[in-house]
Amino acid sequence: MHDIFRRFRDVGIIPVIVMEHEEHAEKLADILCDNGLPCAEVTFRTEAAAKVIAAMVKHRPDMLVGAGTVLTVEEVDLAVASGAQFIVSPGLNPTVVQYCQEHNIPMAPGTQTPSEMEQAIGLGVDFVKFFPAEQSGGLNMIKAVAAPYGQLSFMPTGGINADNVQPYLQNDRIVACGGSWMVKESLMEAGNWKKIAKLVQEAADIVRKARGKDNLDKHLLAS
Ligand code: 3PG
Repeated sequence: MHDIFRRFRDVGIIPVIVMEHEEHAEKLADILCDNGLPCAEVTFRTEAAAKVIAAMVKHRPDMLVGAGTVLTVEEVDLAVASGAQFIVSPGLNPTVVQYCQEHNIPMAPGTQTPSEMEQAIGLGVDFVKFFPAEQSGGLNMIKAVAAPYGQLSFMPTGGINADNVQPYLQNDRIVACGGSWMVKESLMEAGNWKKIAKLVQEAADIVRKARGKDNLDKHLLAS
């Protein structure tokens, strides 16, 4: 697995961000870093996405910042030129996967079914997003596919929240979970940064509780 994705395990929860206004980028980066989730998957669903990535990377060089909802190689180029350290997509597009591999860009394609997971393995991918997680069988589905596909690690995303994330984090094959619940667009639009900080802190606490030190040491020894 790429070193960048190994770092996902330490963070545990990857905030999935839909940001309309790039002027919010520095504020949110500070909140994420200062409250225990120093990472962002900035989705290419808004015009501002590339500028948000660039602003976060410049403002908080200590933060892991990547691009989500990346559907084309042009978006890969734009994301990387903006400073994105990783690429995530909702589905598996072999053209995008191979382009990232050729350019040594860490990439997690989305998979939902065993066939898509086999396609990922065939392309040499060892870390996939499982999307949309809750709607596709959640943790039980991951447990079921983990045995035949021993070479895959997972980042479930979609429908995950503070109430259901803990058991995902306790599963050995899950590197991190993606989720937008702590960085809701509506909260950012309303300027409710206090609430966002509280939700980020709460999420970071869940990661700490779910993954004790012993658990982390076990993963470090195994990697
Ligand atoms: C994604 O963009 O990966 C998902 O839409 C995030 O899902 P959530 O909003 O249910 O957390």
